[in-house]
Amino acid sequence: MAKAAILGFGTVGSGVYEVIEKNFDSIAQRIGEPLEVKYIVDIRDFPGTPFAEKVIHDFSVVENDPEVTVVAEVIGGATIAYDYTKRALKAGKSVATSNKELVATHGAELIALAKENHVNYMFEASVGGGIPIIRPMQRCMAANDIEEISGILNGTTNYILTKMIHENLPFETALQQAQEKGYAEKDPTADVEGIDAQRKVAILASLAFGKHVYPDTVSAQGITKITLADVEAADALGYVIKLIGHVKREGEKTFAYVAPHLVSKNHMLAGVEDVFNAIMVKGNMVDEVMFYGKGAGKLPTASAVVADMIECAKHAERNIPLHWEDTKETIIAPAQQFASPWFVRSEDGEEALRKALPVQSVCQTDGVTAVITQPMNEEQLTKALRGLSHVMTRMRVL
Ligand code: HSE
Repeated sequence: MAKAAILGFGTVGSGVYEVIEKNFDSIAQRIGEPLEVKYIVDIRDFPGTPFAEKVIHDFSVVENDPEVTVVAEVIGGATIAYDYTKRALKAGKSVATSNKELVATHGAELIALAKENHVNYMFEASVGGGIPIIRPMQRCMAANDIEEISGILNGTTNYILTKMIHENLPFETALQQAQEKGYAEKDPTADVEGIDAQRKVAILASLAFGKHVYPDTVSAQGITKITLADVEAADALGYVIKLIGHVKREGEKTFAYVAPHLVSKNHMLAGVEDVFNAIMVKGNMVDEVMFYGKGAGKLPTASAVVADMIECAKHAERNIPLHWEDTKETIIAPAQQFASPWFVRSEDGEEALRKALPVQSVCQTDGVTAVITQPMNEEQLTKALRGLSHVMTRMRVL
């Protein structure tokens, strides 16, 4: 019997327990022995539940129990979770997690610590919730150099934008719905300001290039400033608005950033709606592949954590090497230097916009002009817009 502990019994933690209980037999077949949850570590008690007796408050009980070989860290954050993860790895236990903040900030260190202790640190659930992306990139695409990753990486913001696009719903109402459904983080700032997606981009870029990309080197912009008028103008031009995480290699430079984008209605990412996430990865041999599925929510995320727990149990005391090294120097170039077409909405009028910008298409909605420019970097755009006085929106086009 493989024995496990769940650290944190919130949405994902309770999902992990449910997945293990529901699929107990098939999980046992896959590991070659049953997987039993011996402890649930949480600050709360859960009296009257079938698992009440497993609940403990002191992590050192797990740390000092040699029977426990697999730990699911689903506490979130990078403080207590960081401490417990290090202690678990040092005590010779593998750790599976959905904690993107911790992976994005301390991934290289924790991967090295796992290696040192002949165990594993696995984080499939940290990007794309239930979508297989980490292992496919790490294993199935291992023969490729990664050239580009573009993805819808946050379920909450995609849900909000879908509601704004199709139901004309105000931002606040859509956000409230996302929270009620358990998609949003406790503090939705991380979702709506692009910070959650920023962490996921940092993880994907680290995996793609084998060097730790720290989240603060990935510029992030959220969706809080997007209005229904932007949505309407984008629609008139043949686009939808999506929050995109983008990683691209161009010659010697690597760009990585998160920002709302106009996405052509013909693009595969345009049809990705509600809480669904999709990640397009371009390898220099395989070309483009796309991963699609539920990027948030209790059971999809928990299923990815449990898949990692199974992998950890199958490889007890054997480290599976992962190419992800720490680095002092960032490999990421400033996003302002990245050239793309831009969407600009302005009350300055079509003539003034055409004079200031290399316009490729134009529309008018409610007396306001919106244009799509030829590709230009942000520095060039800022300079070009200096002559205009009533610019309301500027947004990249994918
Ligand atoms: N709050 C996140 C999202 C959860 O909405 O995508 C999954 O990382």
